[in-house]
Amino acid sequence: MHALVTGAAGFIGSHLSQRLAAEGHTVRGVDSFTDYYDVDLKHRNLAGLSDDAGFELVVADLTRDQLAGLLEGIDVVFHQAGQPGVRLSWANDFSTYLDRNVLATQRLLEAVKDHPVDRLVYASSSSVYGNAASYPTTETDLPQPHSPYGVTKLAAEHLCYLYAENWGLSVAALRYFTVYGPRQRPDMAIGRFVDAIRAGRPVTVYGDGSQVRDFTYVGDVVDANLAAAATATTPPGPVNIAGGGSSSVNDLLDLIGESCGRPVERITEPAQPGDVRRTGGTTELARETLGWEPATSLVDGVAAHVEWAGAQENGST
Ligand code: UGA
Repeated sequence: MHALVTGAAGFIGSHLSQRLAAEGHTVRGVDSFTDYYDVDLKHRNLAGLSDDAGFELVVADLTRDQLAGLLEGIDVVFHQAGQPGVRLSWANDFSTYLDRNVLATQRLLEAVKDHPVDRLVYASSSSVYGNAASYPTTETDLPQPHSPYGVTKLAAEHLCYLYAENWGLSVAALRYFTVYGPRQRPDMAIGRFVDAIRAGRPVTVYGDGSQVRDFTYVGDVVDANLAAAATATTPPGPVNIAGGGSSSVNDLLDLIGESCGRPVERITEPAQPGDVRRTGGTTELARETLGWEPATSLVDGVAAHVEWAGAQENGST
């Protein structure tokens, strides 16, 4: 496979690029190195790929640059780039979400329309569901985002499918549920909690900590992407990629405390606008259409994250 991975220097994009290259595929990774978080971390994410002859990095901005050249010789596009983060998508920052999630996707789709590929895999989000009427959410539930971020992820998902219908593209949108694991973005809960607990600092809990997430391990998300590229039949619509468990933030903190062997001190801040009370997705469609199931329990995934955090401190990547 000749793959284009957008957002290749990010958390999920770097893991995906690494796996593709390790499996002998050629990978063109594109990233614009936005400063949403420390750009050095993104360079570090790519450290394992710098000597890989099968990996080529292109620094380009999907919202502005000419994209046709990126698609030369490409069979599969994995569109992981975007402006993430639920809680910061309010006020003036919304325009960044519009640009990097909606406009960037539309420009990429225009380029794919003119340079067809076998499949485009789009990194969608559980945030499209909002506070659902019942759980677990299924792909046929009416999406009703609860954050401006979720609106932009849903809009881009719609763009993928309307380009598919009008122009005959093969699209697989994967709705990721709170992805975690080594190299997790530093604004997200598990990474922040592990770092604070290991350092003996208090963690900040938004609200009373009873909110529930269906946390999904990054290795499983990579598997889902590979399955979405490989399956002969295009999935009929968006597919949930969920970890299969439900954990409150409070239970998660107990688990991380145990895994780190340290006590957990909590500071409470108000519940954050845009945060949903619960996420949880059925993975039946993923099993039927992609042959994919989550394989990593939260206990094992958290242990892997904690081990990686320790290795970081000792200077390895
Ligand atoms: C995550 C990602 O950040 C989104 O980009 C992604 O699209 C979304 O998952 C998704 O599944 O669609 P979120 O669920 O908010 O969003 O993930 P975390 O930042 O890891 O937060 C999980 C929970 O922990 C939230 O309820 C949050 O309020 C809470 N939290 C987070 C805290 O209590 N304290 C913190 O310091 C950070």
